[in-house]
Amino acid sequence: MTGLSDPRYRALAATQFSSVTPENAMKWERVEGNRHAHTWAAADAIARFATENDQKLRGHTLVWHDQLPRWLTDGHFTPAELRTLLRTHVTTLAQRYAGAVTAWDVVNEPLDDDGSPHRTLWHDALGSDYIAQVLTWAHAADPGARLYLNEFNVHEESPKTKALYNLAASLLDRGVPLHGIGFQCHLLLGQDVSELARTLNRFAELGLEVAITELGVRMLSPVTSAKLAAQAACYRAVVEECLAVPACTGLTIWGVGDAAAWVPEGSRSPYGSPTLYDDEYRPKPAREAVARALGTVP
Ligand code: G3I
Repeated sequence: MTGLSDPRYRALAATQFSSVTPENAMKWERVEGNRHAHTWAAADAIARFATENDQKLRGHTLVWHDQLPRWLTDGHFTPAELRTLLRTHVTTLAQRYAGAVTAWDVVNEPLDDDGSPHRTLWHDALGSDYIAQVLTWAHAADPGARLYLNEFNVHEESPKTKALYNLAASLLDRGVPLHGIGFQCHLLLGQDVSELARTLNRFAELGLEVAITELGVRMLSPVTSAKLAAQAACYRAVVEECLAVPACTGLTIWGVGDAAAWVPEGSRSPYGSPTLYDDEYRPKPAREAVARALGTVP
């Protein structure tokens, strides 16, 4: 969620969705931009919004390599100091929203496309096992929350998908508290999603929940009615694949409307229009396609 100050955004967010995810408000740079000086107002407002509208709240994200505060990335901390800082951050955030957050994207984007661990501040300082450690800390801080690894480009078989599967399997083997895998699904119009249900099922066979956590279908400008129809078909296919998998617990669209939606490279990008509502928050064909797939259109 970004855009709560716009009444059109608020109205749609309140009435058209049963779950909300803070798009940026719970990220480390936003909650502790200055060391020891937490700013919770934006994240609290989203948590309150979810409660007021009887919606689930998905926490995003406890550990990532992006959107970290400068004091942390430029701080020249030792590995031992970084471990303590990370533990404190994870514990503070998870405890603050304990009981409010249903599921956390605990570790965001831990892998590279070739399947190797993504080299990050955390990986380089703490080794690959930082993932097991943060899941354990998150569970201690909020034993009721479902804990997810969240990754992109894993909607079909690939070296990255295989590595994620192996990582999840080994964490479960060791008894690490991992409950689910989030499949982001930032798609480009025309991308094949026919393997999605099969992929979700493979992870479900490990005993995990799965969720589509950041769905968007962006297109090259200009927007045409043919592209909007193709976008609607793609949205519908993704919803149907999630519905076909009993372990698929939810589907989140990354943005309420195109007006404030994320696309790679921001305003410089030739791609855009990834959501269900246009720049004026009018419903697009994809909005009806999703409703039909969900059976909420008579
Ligand atoms: O709020 C500032 C504004 O004050 C400033 O003037 C402006 C100038 O660039 O930047 C604004 O912040 C931007 C922020 O989005 C809010 O719009 C940041 O620059 C920009 O980097 C940030 O992008 C976010 C991106 O993560 C960062 O990588 C997107 O909103 C957010 O949708 C996106 O979300 C990620 C998920 O967390 C993880 N999966 C991928 C997804 C897309 O990258």
